[in-house]
Amino acid sequence: MKAFTRTKYGGPDVLRLEEVEKPTVKDGQVLIKVEANSANPADWHILRGKPFFARFTLGLLHPKDKIPGADFAGIVEQAGNNVSHLKAGDHVFGETLEGGAFAAYTSVPANVCAIMPEGTGFSEMACVPVAGITALQALITHGKLKAGETVLINGASGGVGHFAVQIAKAYGATVTAVCSDKNVAFVRSLGADHVVAYDKENIHQHTGKYNLIIDTNGNLDYKDYKRMGQRGVMVGFTTMGHMISLILKKATGKFPLAQFTAEANTGDLETLALLVQSGQVKVRIEKTYSYKEIPKAIQHIEAMRTMGKVAMVWENVDGAL
Ligand SMILES: NC(=O)c1ccc[n+]([C@@H]2O[C@H](COP(=O)([O-])OP(=O)(O)OC[C@H]3O[C@@H](n4cnc5c(N)ncnc54)[C@H](OP(=O)(O)O)[C@@H]3O)[C@@H](O)[C@H]2O)c1
Repeated sequence: MKAFTRTKYGGPDVLRLEEVEKPTVKDGQVLIKVEANSANPADWHILRGKPFFARFTLGLLHPKDKIPGADFAGIVEQAGNNVSHLKAGDHVFGETLEGGAFAAYTSVPANVCAIMPEGTGFSEMACVPVAGITALQALITHGKLKAGETVLINGASGGVGHFAVQIAKAYGATVTAVCSDKNVAFVRSLGADHVVAYDKENIHQHTGKYNLIIDTNGNLDYKDYKRMGQRGVMVGFTTMGHMISLILKKATGKFPLAQFTAEANTGDLETLALLVQSGQVKVRIEKTYSYKEIPKAIQHIEAMRTMGKVAMVWENVDGAL
């Protein structure tokens, strides 16, 4: 089968499209014929082996996992032993943080997959897992958002942010979205009640008050959370120094600030599937690439200015590499 592989750390140009062996299915896993992927900032962090301490998990000198890729949607070809909720032929979407998704076939634990809602497409649903799960868990699992509350979402126009705006609205919150001026109309179209353009108004001097602050961009300071919010959730970070400083202040201060690593599970994927099916969440795809252009899609994401998501489709896979 075809797959993108790499043997060293580096930019998207270290990826090679190669013929490799199709993966086998272990107990609890499903083998999926991949129809589409999406790219996330985690893909380029993993490709580059950055931040450096991540290499203690990813492989100190060389990457341990040859095939990268997390988000996928596709068709179950085979279900392993002890898999009860999926069978061959099911259309599924999911994520694997162990890599392996940028390939024509991937074998993943069944508990990081869910059935695609009827009427949805592979590229649409491949965009949901990492960013959608992160938005859902930031708002609901860690942010404890309740209907009628107010939430400020910093970084509202990207993958995580555009899902967060729509999920917060679906749960009955009033949403203030922070994005660049060029994306104001985009975040309003997602349902944001108020918008702050960070290149027109300094967010570090914003005087609004909110029940919950979600920072997907990662440039908010501890004093910003305290000034604007009753509780906060850190999703992304702009620099390592900023991350360490916030985590130290969180450990020593009293403000309820959560930091987490999103984890896929079938239940949360099913919640997202229902939100997509009901039309409360619409997947907004800025650009769709062919699977052959997966390195370009990662380059696109690395600029950190994506509006919604980028998708990659595995069409016309037979033929020359
Ligand atoms: N904790 C976790 O488990 C977890 C999981 C997934 C992702 N993350 C992290 O979350 C972050 C966002 O991920 P993503 O997938 O949403 O990335 P993305 O799709 O690349 O979006 C990045 C967004 O950042 C916005 N942005 C850039 N500068 C900004 C600023 N100064 N103020 C506010 N927004 C700004 C951009 O919007 P404009 O173009 O409008 O500026 C863009 O839409 C990344 O750091 C990622 O690593 C964490």
